[in-house]
Amino acid sequence: MATAVVAQHSQSNFAGDVRAGLLRSGQKELPSKYLYDEVGSALFEVISVLPEYGLTRADERLLGRHAVDIVSRLKSDVLVAELGSGSGRKTRWILEALTRRQRTTYCPIEISPTALARCESELGQIEHVSIVGFERPYLDGLLAAASWRREHEHLLVLFLGSTIGNFDRDAGERFLAEVRRILYPGDALLLGTDLEKPLPQLVAAYDDPIGVTAAFNLNLLARINRELDADFDLAAFRHEARYNSSERRIEMHLRSLRGQTVAIARAGCSVTFAKDETIWTESSHKYRADEIPAMAQRTGYRCDGQWLDSEWPFAENLRAPFARGNHFHGPNRQDLRALIHAFESLLGFRYRLDRRNPQMDSAGGVNRHRDILPFVHDAQV
Ligand SMILES: C[S@@+](CC[C@H](N)C(=O)[O-])C[C@H]1O[C@@H](n2cnc3c(N)ncnc32)[C@H](O)[C@@H]1O
Repeated sequence: MATAVVAQHSQSNFAGDVRAGLLRSGQKELPSKYLYDEVGSALFEVISVLPEYGLTRADERLLGRHAVDIVSRLKSDVLVAELGSGSGRKTRWILEALTRRQRTTYCPIEISPTALARCESELGQIEHVSIVGFERPYLDGLLAAASWRREHEHLLVLFLGSTIGNFDRDAGERFLAEVRRILYPGDALLLGTDLEKPLPQLVAAYDDPIGVTAAFNLNLLARINRELDADFDLAAFRHEARYNSSERRIEMHLRSLRGQTVAIARAGCSVTFAKDETIWTESSHKYRADEIPAMAQRTGYRCDGQWLDSEWPFAENLRAPFARGNHFHGPNRQDLRALIHAFESLLGFRYRLDRRNPQMDSAGGVNRHRDILPFVHDAQV
């Protein structure tokens, strides 16, 4: 029953965002979070092993080599929350390093149920790890995860794989500052950032020769056909990856190969495309390693460590929130619980917690937390 209500909410958001993004004047856009339905999440897994897409391997190499060092810099008793965990494959390194010293609760936060299920099966077998999955948008999931930590526990927030690059730079900084508001002194954020690299290498990572990234992008139109009863002709659109050098980002677009009108029944609209007009579907901003400490400072953190990959320019950054009174103030524990309970009663959804963590579970069963809250500040969140 609760799930059906959530599905309705979810679909009307999707329809509303599609309508708003395709009917806006100027550049048509669709939020990149909608790339990750069941097919999109599976395709992203394939992208992550493509020879051209070195990002995931670099992230994984750094975690494999330095997880023990990273974990040694954290306070003891850590609860791990991961924003947009995907399959969680790389997170194994951090969890295994942590379980050498403690039992660990791990909270993946995902809007894609497929990715969350994969993550639970990928990491669910690690000894001394309890998984509490949250099928929610980032900040909403993080608030819920934070409210479950015990008095003495510190939060380690993982934001890996350069998903921060999907935010516009300003929105990304606002997002990191929002994350900071949920943290206390002694907590930490481990942030992956993909770095600038030669243009051919960058573009190939988003436009591979066998067309997996093209399929990932085009699947967004197929998803609109499936879920919103639209009539996009996929053969009349082409995937395009371009580098915007002034914004230092890769942009993924879908180019209309002819003039055409598409009806989207469940969004209650028709959209006209001129020949060569594009829909902008994703941005991937690139960073310089030396700009990251200043960005940390601006958003309420100090850098506690940075690890760079030598094969594929990529940085893993450990950040600690400034102490209270020094910049930002996190909410206190009661505030957090009150907020979560207010959200819950507003939306009428249920908590079911991990059966392997007797302290947190009375019901047993699926440890999935579902709801859809209004997006907090931009389409990504
Ligand atoms: C680029 S993938 C990265 C996955 C994984 N962290 C990695 O490094 O391979 C981004 C993931 O974030 C999830 N995601 C996107 N927008 C989200 C949102 N607003 N809230 C929660 N999860 C989101 C997607 O479903 C997807 O699995």
